[in-house]
Amino acid sequence: MDGNGRWATRRLLPRTAGHRAGVKNIVPVVTAAFDRGVSVVTLYAFSTENKGRAKDEVDGLIDLIRKQMRPMTRDLIARGSRVGFIGDIEYFPNDVQNILCEIAAENSHIENAQIVNIALNYGGREEIARAARLASESGEVTRARIERYLYTADMPPLDMIIRTGGEKRLSNFLLYQAAYAELFFSDTLWPDFNENELTGILDEFAHRQRRFGK
Ligand code: IPE
Ligand code: MG
Repeated sequence: MDGNGRWATRRLLPRTAGHRAGVKNIVPVVTAAFDRGVSVVTLYAFSTENKGRAKDEVDGLIDLIRKQMRPMTRDLIARGSRVGFIGDIEYFPNDVQNILCEIAAENSHIENAQIVNIALNYGGREEIARAARLASESGEVTRARIERYLYTADMPPLDMIIRTGGEKRLSNFLLYQAAYAELFFSDTLWPDFNENELTGILDEFAHRQRRFGK
């Protein structure tokens, strides 16, 4: 979900206003994806690298999580989804960690739901290192055992990644899982990304030939 800062700057607003607009766009886009048959959506909300931004912006992002995560996830859960978090959430202040743990505990029992994973203080390299560490603690480090310790262990294989905001890179998102994912890059800034554009991307995905190297 890239482009919040530029969306705000173009309107002469502080970057945090862009993040607020970005948060508002999550439920509509995720709902549209589920309506079109997507079963799992993983949102890159806060990367391990985002911690290195100016303190004001980081504090603003953490405050958004503090104030908006509950209402947003309630909305998603009310629409039949299950919400979980991936990443190292111990970085966040205790009150924020408590909010995240409560949300995860409240809805973890929901079965046969569409799944929303929210990546918070998430990094792909950190995820792979963590999985390798956990795998080595309990035996031989094989591909299967690494996959068992990824945050996405119980998820289906990753089909596609959509990045908004014009940059053409993965920026440490789902690096392991991206091996055979179809990649889509949109110039639209995240707060402006909508159902129409998503539908176009899903149509293009449906026409891509996927041979997985074979
Ligand atoms: C993405 O928007 C949101 C987060 C990283 C939290 P940016 O903040 O990266 O927006 P731009 O790239 O500066 O426009
Ligand atoms: Mg950016």
